[in-house]
Order: sequence, then structure tokens, then C-alpha cells
Amino acid sequence: MSPRASGSITICDMTLANRGIPTSAGLLEKLSRAGVLSKHWQKRPLFVPGAIPDCGAWLQPATLFELAARDDVASRLVMRVRNRWTVHHGPFKRSEFRKLPRGGWTLLVQGVEQYIPKSSDLLGFFSFIPHARLDDLMVSYAPPGGGVGPHFDSYDVFLLQGLGTRRWQISTQKNLQLVDDAPLRILKDFHSTQEWVTQRGDLLYLPPRCAHDGVALEECMTLSVGFRAPRKLELASRFLEFLQDELPSGGALDGLYEDPDLQLQKHPAALPPAMLEKISRALMHIRWNARDVAQFTGRYLSEPAHEAVFDRPRRPLALPNFVRQVSRNGARLTLRTRMLFHGGTVFINGESHPLPPQDRTALIRLADQRATPAFMPSRAGAALLHAWYCAGYIVV
Ligand code: SIN
Ligand code: CO
Repeated sequence: MSPRASGSITICDMTLANRGIPTSAGLLEKLSRAGVLSKHWQKRPLFVPGAIPDCGAWLQPATLFELAARDDVASRLVMRVRNRWTVHHGPFKRSEFRKLPRGGWTLLVQGVEQYIPKSSDLLGFFSFIPHARLDDLMVSYAPPGGGVGPHFDSYDVFLLQGLGTRRWQISTQKNLQLVDDAPLRILKDFHSTQEWVTQRGDLLYLPPRCAHDGVALEECMTLSVGFRAPRKLELASRFLEFLQDELPSGGALDGLYEDPDLQLQKHPAALPPAMLEKISRALMHIRWNARDVAQFTGRYLSEPAHEAVFDRPRRPLALPNFVRQVSRNGARLTLRTRMLFHGGTVFINGESHPLPPQDRTALIRLADQRATPAFMPSRAGAALLHAWYCAGYIVV
């Protein structure tokens, strides 16, 4: 059974007998962020009872069902009938849920932060982890008995209990073999080594590849803050695409292949060694430096989710009016915007722009906190912000 929140805000890491998995009691705000990173992040699970009181109280099941009915929202319905798992992809009509059994299924909705403004307060708790690592907020709804089966995730996740209670079991097992032919990842053998019954506000952090299984004990909602870790191969192939677009013209790679020194050869079909030599010398001119890597990384990791659509203002304010608004009210990012920075460059939704030096503090605040209080932008800053506003990236 669960070690429950004691009401105390003292942080104590205690190792449960024979299990080796520490449990902290207290509010997330009082936890040492540095301690979470050094002791748990990508290393070992952490359970924090009462981490975020009232967690998810702003999200009702009805709102989740409304999101699941939209065709621009990724949703899945996972069901288990006896030993058979099924997965259906949304959108789902409300009436479809009425036909479901009373228990044993789960609705999962991805990217909730793109639709529900309150999500950003929750994500704000996790800003001790770089925004570049954040993936999305997934919310699940399950009647009693619902769950997605014992599995592991390849990414770090903070599981927060919203409505109701859920029994979480985790395992230190190394055997991560999956059931063949199942429509979702289900572990062949799952041996729980620790379990908790979570209620609203409790948090369970799981590092990648940690086996776990959560089953709703009553009607329940779980909020999962998931982190992204791009595959290295994906990084490499996207970087090569970036390089292709950035190859300098007018340099050593300009012009056509030439061979005024061509020699007679016995086999016309044979690749001339001199040709290979020339090509390899030309390819050596494909170079990149730390600046290219930062440009690529910033653009790539600030790309919006693929289903994201930005709503442009229907009658945008003209630049002078817009500047007046920013200087009175500040600005904030719209829900689907991703903004990062590095040195003198700011990245927004896959684009990179030089950071106007006079607006640096305000724009960094906008990126860090998704909002900036009133400030008077420079001429360059105003032009940049106005372009973002017209593109639906920010609002005033
Ligand atoms: C759920 O919310 O039901 C599943 C979350 C997970 O196990 O990763
Ligand atoms: Co999981």
C-alpha cells in the first residue's frame, strides 16, 4: 500500500527496506530540484506524495472527452477484454463512450498543453528541466480497472494523479520482453517490486525503461508530463538535411565536376580512381561548427508538434498599436508555441532570429516563462514581435 502524504512539508528521502527505491514526502516546491536531477533524473524512480495539491482540478473528464472528439487532437482508447488488448485511435464521438463497458478501458489524450491554458501552470513546475527536453502533457481517463497494461516507456515521465485513485506498481526487472502481436507494448512478464496507491497531487517519476503498471481503482485521471529524447539517428539525418540547406554557395563546393587531366583506362565501366579522389576532396569541404550545431538544435527542438496550427489574428493590430499594447500589457506565447534561445539567437517554432540586444531580457523571459511583463521594445524587437504576433505565435 501507499506511503501517504503526512501533511508535513519536510523532505525526507527514505529507502524502503529491501527495495532500494527512495520515497520523498513533501510538496514538489520544497524538493531540491538539484537533488531530483542528481539522484533520480534518468536514474531511479521517485514517489512524492502530495507533490502538487489540487493537481488537474482544472480539467474535468467532460473536457477530456471534448478534446478526444477533435480531429486535430491525438487520442487513443485502450481496452482489455479478458486477455486481449485493443487500441482505437480518435477522434471519438461522445456517444461511443456511452457504449463502453463500466470498467477496464482507458482514454489517452496527447498534447493537452496545446489546448488547455491551465496546463502551463502545471508544466511550470517542471521548468527545472530544460524546455528543449519537454515533449507534452498526456492525460488519461479510466473507469475502475482501466489501465494500459504493464509496460515500459522509452522516455522520462512524471505521472501525476488528478481525479480518483490509481494503484501504481513498478519493477526493477531487467527483462523487458514484450508480448508478440499486441497492438500496444505489453510486458510478457511483469513482477512488481513496489507499489503505491496514488491520489490527487501525488507524483511518480519514472526514468526511461522502468517497468510499470497503473490500474484505476475508481474513476480516475492521470496527467503525464513526458520528455522527449530524439533518436541519435534521427538527429543525424535531420542535421544532414539542415546542412544541405545551409551549404555555402560561392565556395569550394561551387561549380561542376571537371577532369581536364582524364587518362585512358582499360574498362570504360570502371570508376576512375582520379574521379573518386576529386569527389572525396570536394566532399571534405562539407564542414560544420558549433554555431551550425546550435542553429540546427534550436530550430529542430523548437519545431511545433506536427498537428499544431497557429491561429493568426483576424484583424491584426498595426505595428504602432501593437507596440503600445506590448508597452502596456506585455506579451505571451500562444499555447502551441515553442521558444528557445542560445547566445544571441532566439528560436521560435522552428525559425531562428538574431536576438535584438536591447530586448534580450524581455525575450529571454518570454522564452523561459512563456510571458513577459510590459516593456518598450526596440525598433528591431518590435518588428520581430509583430511578425510573431501576425503569425499567431504570441498574443498581447
Ligand atoms: C495512464 O495514464 O494510464 C498511462 C500512463 C503511463 O503508464 O505511462
Ligand atoms: Co507508461
